Amino acid sequence: MFNFSQLAFPVVQAPMAGGINNPKFAAAVANSGGVGSFGFSYSSPQKISEDLLATKHLTQGPINANFFVFREVELPDAGVQSNAVSALQKLSLGDECNICVPSAPFYPALEDQLRPIWTHRPQILTFHFGIPPQGCIEHAHALGIAVGITATSLGEAIEIQKAGVDFVVAQGIEAGGHRGIFDQSTQDDSLSTIDLTQMITQNCSLPVVAAGAIMTGLDIRNVLLAGAAAAQLGTAFLCCDEAGSTLAHKDYLLNKQHRGTVLTKAFSGRMARGIRNEFIDKLESCQVLPFPIQNTMTASLRQLAVKTNNGEFQSLWAGSAYSKIRKCSTTDLMKILMEEYSAAGG
Ligand SMILES: Cc1cc2nc3c(=O)[nH]c(=O)nc-3n(C[C@H](O)[C@H](O)[C@H](O)COP(=O)(O)O)c2cc1C
Repeated sequence: MFNFSQLAFPVVQAPMAGGINNPKFAAAVANSGGVGSFGFSYSSPQKISEDLLATKHLTQGPINANFFVFREVELPDAGVQSNAVSALQKLSLGDECNICVPSAPFYPALEDQLRPIWTHRPQILTFHFGIPPQGCIEHAHALGIAVGITATSLGEAIEIQKAGVDFVVAQGIEAGGHRGIFDQSTQDDSLSTIDLTQMITQNCSLPVVAAGAIMTGLDIRNVLLAGAAAAQLGTAFLCCDEAGSTLAHKDYLLNKQHRGTVLTKAFSGRMARGIRNEFIDKLESCQVLPFPIQNTMTASLRQLAVKTNNGEFQSLWAGSAYSKIRKCSTTDLMKILMEEYSAAGG
């Protein structure tokens, strides 16, 4: 079974749903001594199968397949729905953008999505937003697949440990993308990556993978000194040549560093950190539908924004330290990180 101590360099490329991960990108990280990842949360079983198969031809290194643990959700009443629709219609992006409330099923069935995992057997399987059914964990273990789950608090990490998985991903408040908090109705502890990593390593026996605002070799060294077994980097990889980030996403990461990031529910109905833009500002005090219904409802608008290269209406997920981003090939970024890590005493 996979163990972080077997890595030549303890770096995990973060799983990043929405077309960012791809076989070449993941293989470049795995061939450089780290873990390559796929954010498969919205992917069809066929796409998952194709990506894993293509990756197998490019690397023998460790690959992580990541899924969301969606919670059952219902449409709110008609008044709430119509307020949420009209908030988006007011953005008036044109006729091509047809805003309508989706109908059930609101998310893919995890059981179907995991079928290609049992066939292709990536070394690692991770989950975000909660603990998957026990049967998934047992099935993975029977096939020799290591399982990890994101925690944003010590309480979640303790639940994760009780579920009998192999590691915890400690996601600090600085992290880009969706916050992995299990229950959105509970208070968010909002702990920094370093504080959360220390808290979990001191109180749990599972290996910890630290995530959030890790951009340099020195940052990697610091989370390992705080007790982490590995560092998970998302934003740092977004401007790599192989990354599927949109043109506007790369442009804003490199050139609009004064904007900073915010946590918003506006795109998906769940808190996620991204670069502040017009969409976030305009939706700030508006009604949004629950996750992932809001995500589906904003999809046509976001797709139109990608087509027209308009960064103001795309979800530009990024961690709070994105100003330290570098534009280069994935292999070069891994080399730079390794050199910085050695220079920092690692
Ligand atoms: C564009 C983007 C998409 C993300 N998608 C996922 C995802 O699908 N699954 C997941 O577990 N985490 C996802 N995350 C969160 C990362 O796993 C990780 O917590 C985060 O990138 C760490 O912070 P950093 O971006 O500052 O490195 C995403 C992050 C970004 C930036």
